[in-house]
Amino acid sequence: MGTDVILPDGSAFPQMGMGVMLIPDADVPAAMRTAADLGYRAFDTAPVYRNEPGVGNGIRGCGVPREQLFLTTKLWNSRQGYDEALKAFDESLAALRLDYVDLYLIHWPVPRQDRYLESWKALVRLKEEGRARQIGVSNFLPHHLDRIIGETGVVPAMNQIELHPAWQQRELRAYHARHGIITEAWSPLGRGGALADPVIAGIAARLGRSPAQVILRWMTQQGISVIPKASSQGHLRENLESFGFDLDAADIAAIEALDAAAGRFGPDPETFDMM
Ligand SMILES: NC(=O)c1ccc[n+]([C@@H]2O[C@H](COP(=O)([O-])OP(=O)(O)OC[C@H]3O[C@@H](n4cnc5c(N)ncnc54)[C@H](OP(=O)(O)O)[C@@H]3O)[C@@H](O)[C@H]2O)c1
Repeated sequence: MGTDVILPDGSAFPQMGMGVMLIPDADVPAAMRTAADLGYRAFDTAPVYRNEPGVGNGIRGCGVPREQLFLTTKLWNSRQGYDEALKAFDESLAALRLDYVDLYLIHWPVPRQDRYLESWKALVRLKEEGRARQIGVSNFLPHHLDRIIGETGVVPAMNQIELHPAWQQRELRAYHARHGIITEAWSPLGRGGALADPVIAGIAARLGRSPAQVILRWMTQQGISVIPKASSQGHLRENLESFGFDLDAADIAAIEALDAAAGRFGPDPETFDMM
């Protein structure tokens, strides 16, 4: 079940992963085991989620060989800069007790401190060393991407961004498509808020699917990768089973009409500078 997206270097990455934000460190291994048993192979964490040790235990204890798993972690805002990013990466590996990650992302651009270019150069080095198999960014806007690509010639494999029916980010996705960057949706279910939308609910009822499945399929059908957070086995299974049907053009158009100028609920990447 599930499918892959193809990264710019031609390698495959699972299109659906499990987000583990807000899952307490001690609970993560069991949640990952449940997910792996269902077929999940990708997991998304970050030092700021304070569960990297549990995620590392989950990677070792989920019953799937390491080389079949895809682990993403991120560089937190307070650790940006070339030397600091390299140190922070080592600390993540130590917390995870792993010798590589599959994807390492700069969590936010934090333009105010203006260190994301130096951070990106550190990630390029980590990829060359093979300790980060893939490198990318999160919450970057086109002008941030232009800068890191222009200065280094290295295109991020992925930009992980807030994306759900009320905040569809069409312009940014078009930029990604032009550059071969995978769009990955964080909070794809609008943190649960998108599930009650009557348009989504109507499509779900007609197709005999759940609202979560309709939203996730709307994304994956367009080549977007997704990392819904789900803590119950039922939700995890339901989300993975969203690959089992297709939406037609009318349903896709109806969901596209839900895009809203004020639909973002997360921070503005241009100003977010939490340390
Ligand atoms: N890069 C960034 O800046 C950034 C920012 C925020 C989040 N993220 C990543 O994105 C991941 C997901 O984001 P999120 O947790 O904010 O929001 P989300 O995935 O949109 O929504 C999670 C909520 O949806 C519920 N849910 C999941 N599957 C469901 C289903 N099939 N039916 C009904 N409810 C369902 C979950 O409930 P249960 O837990 O009860 O299943 C939870 O309350 C995070 O874990 C994190 O890895 C990244």
